[in-house]
Amino acid sequence: MSEFKPLVFSGVQPTGNLHLGNYLGAIRKFVALQDNNDCMYCVVDLHALTAQLVHDDMPGQIRSITAAFLAAGIDPQKHIVFNQSQVPQHAELAWIFNCVARMGWMSRMTQFKDKAGKDREQASLGLFAYPSLMAADILVYRATHVPVGDDQKQHLELTRDIAMKFNLDFGDKIRPTGLGVDITVGNEPVHAYFPMVEPLIDGPAPRVMSLKDGSKKMSKSDPSDLSRVNLMDDSDTISKKIRKAKTDPDALPSEVAGLSGRPEADNLVGIYAALADKTKADVLAEFGGQQFSVFKPALVDLAVDVLAPITDEMRRLMADPGHIDAVLRDGGERARARAEKTMMEVRDIIGFVR
Ligand code: TYM
Repeated sequence: MSEFKPLVFSGVQPTGNLHLGNYLGAIRKFVALQDNNDCMYCVVDLHALTAQLVHDDMPGQIRSITAAFLAAGIDPQKHIVFNQSQVPQHAELAWIFNCVARMGWMSRMTQFKDKAGKDREQASLGLFAYPSLMAADILVYRATHVPVGDDQKQHLELTRDIAMKFNLDFGDKIRPTGLGVDITVGNEPVHAYFPMVEPLIDGPAPRVMSLKDGSKKMSKSDPSDLSRVNLMDDSDTISKKIRKAKTDPDALPSEVAGLSGRPEADNLVGIYAALADKTKADVLAEFGGQQFSVFKPALVDLAVDVLAPITDEMRRLMADPGHIDAVLRDGGERARARAEKTMMEVRDIIGFVR
């Protein structure tokens, strides 16, 4: 075998409301990728315990992310939609990766530093090991491509480091099994069991920023609800939030270079472009020279056109939790079979007796 079979994998945490950043940075890309790829999309419920252990409505949170996947257009029959806790092999591989990854690598993760805040002593061990579980999510299927927002870039670099170290450390054991693939990393030939994952981050909105502060990421945890458009917001709320979004007093530039130093303008143009499947240059060709008083209403119309059908479908799906659970159960079963195949091989490579 000379190449890994292409497989798309990504995950979303069932914590808080999904927002426009999650949709444009991740879910919209999931939908676009499904036409030409084998895809697995996972509700990462084990990850949800890392920052907060007890959740008021964990089943509701899991179902609402699943509903968002389906409402956005992911086909759970052609592809696999499931929740992480149904596939215990993720946690098993994560343990092995905890022994592959180095403390120094993990200590450099900026999301850990941000999420742990000042009181690092009180952060859970799970929060520290979070990226190792994320690497396991992807590599337990030997997935090759991972669509994510820009904030996950460092975690995917770590995933490559973990895969590389496993491949090199177990190189002599992988070869005789006949399970590996010859790849080149840089100029080095490597006999690899795990692929070097490719992040899919590009697009006009890889990092959607807060509507109130163009220097901060749009986030579920921002205390101000006006900072984000939630997928469950109704049309009036979307309109209010976009109309109130922070901007500067100048007209929009005609070229992309004119957005530099104007983070709020850049953000809104990026959002428009991503929602319209255009580039920022296309958007500026249309709106360059116009004031925000013209651009914002156009953005409201576009956002409502794209999001309202998704919101309506999410509501419809959420009214039938039995259907959502059946989708997850079916996806979980198919995912488990794939993950167990990898784990049998990994156990053999390591040398566990079975
Ligand atoms: P999570 O649940 O925080 O976010 C889900 C996805 O949304 C993207 N995203 C954004 N994209 C653009 N602009 C924003 N403001 C924005 N906010 C969030 C995230 O980049 C992500 O793609 N660690 C992951 C979940 C995960 C995962 C995985 C992802 C666990 N295992 C394996 C891929 C592969 C996370 O916390 O995502």
